[in-house]
Amino acid sequence: MERLLIEGGSRLDGELRASGAKNSASIMLPAALLADDPVTISNVPHLRDITTMIELLGSMGVEVVIDEKMNVEIHANSIKRFTAPYDLVKTMRASFTVLGPLLAHYGHAEVSLPGGCAIGPRPVDQHLRGLEALGAQIEMEDGYVKASVNGRLKGARIYFDISTVGGTEHIMMAATLADGETVLENCAREPEIVDLANCLNEMGANIEGAGTEIITINGVGSLKGCTHKVIADRVETGTYLIAAAATGGRVKVRDANPDHLELLIEKLKEAGAAVNLGEDWIELDMQGKRPKAISLVTAPYPAFPTDLQAQIIALNSIAEGTGTIKETVFENRFMHVHEMTRMGARIRLEGNNTTAIVEGVDRLQGAPVMANDLRASVSLVIAGLVAEGTTVVDRIYHIDRGYEQVEEKLNNLGANIQRVANV
Ligand code: EPZ
Repeated sequence: MERLLIEGGSRLDGELRASGAKNSASIMLPAALLADDPVTISNVPHLRDITTMIELLGSMGVEVVIDEKMNVEIHANSIKRFTAPYDLVKTMRASFTVLGPLLAHYGHAEVSLPGGCAIGPRPVDQHLRGLEALGAQIEMEDGYVKASVNGRLKGARIYFDISTVGGTEHIMMAATLADGETVLENCAREPEIVDLANCLNEMGANIEGAGTEIITINGVGSLKGCTHKVIADRVETGTYLIAAAATGGRVKVRDANPDHLELLIEKLKEAGAAVNLGEDWIELDMQGKRPKAISLVTAPYPAFPTDLQAQIIALNSIAEGTGTIKETVFENRFMHVHEMTRMGARIRLEGNNTTAIVEGVDRLQGAPVMANDLRASVSLVIAGLVAEGTTVVDRIYHIDRGYEQVEEKLNNLGANIQRVANV
């Protein structure tokens, strides 16, 4: 396995381009299974999660053509198999969402349950409940969901018991080909859901309300191909803004969408950053100052994103003052805390591990660290940037799942990071 060696102490300064959103592209690839003609998705980031999803489509016999710019063309109707095997679904949870499109377009599918992951059990009960409400017959056997429907799925009124991004996306996709109207209530509102709805409507679907808590889908008989450009990755963008702020530096992120990061920008201004915004860029400048501590609560969009929580903890670890961070989305998303305390951070967990109280110190000490979640892993890279000496981040395949060319992008900003094979 590879590791990152980080020499701490450099102040980030420069520009970078945001990649396409992992959490948009990874749901748009299964969505292409709904179409009768080829669907081309552009601005797809070159990430492990994406290649795993492409591998899954290939294992079904779906023809996928990729060009050097990572434009991905999917030919659903070349499909030969309707099964998503455990060894692929376990490494890339979002691949579970091929179930709905296969059911809606071909009437049957056999997909492995995704199982839990490091940050929590992450059940899919809302996904299955929604598909049953649309008329699917669902059986569970040997860890697989075996689903079928006689004829078409039927429109229904569905209320999600919890705000779920994947659940909202999954049922919205399946409902596009259902017979009649589907109304989804208590939907998640993330920008990636809006991006997916826009792509589905370009394929001829009839979806209204994406981005609000109520989404209405009027089913159509079939969907055609389209070409759709994936939105900028707001979590990647936010990560680099936080990294620059933690080092007292300056960064301009191009191809970004400031509207998707309103709350983070507000919080970074509270930390003392000067922030300028353009239509497709965000510039942050700490003017060499040490950041002030930030307090926040994570919750579904438009509240503060759980996917940026670990990165803020890294910033707070060397900030002026004490910050309180409450995690309300996942049950076990503070694994990075134990690694940062080994670097000298002063963090205590309270409230049954739902809240981290971070008392800023002047400097962290470099150390060998590792994490089991992609956002926790990248937060250790940020901690390494602000530490004295060398930090070695292990298991960086987690980072490669969500960050395209992470060391190149950071070294272009003045960091000193090397990728080495595990010796
Ligand atoms: C998406 O995961 C993202 N992944 C996650 O990003 C992100 O952290 C999460 O949304 C929350 O914003 C992708 O889009 C590929 P949820 P998802 O369903 O859809 C519970 C990253 O770092 N729940 O909104 O799986 C669940 O356990 C990843 O890029 C149920 O109880 O998240 C969790 O506690 C990590 N039953 C909460 O809801 C269900 O049927 C939110 O999960 C579904 C979810």
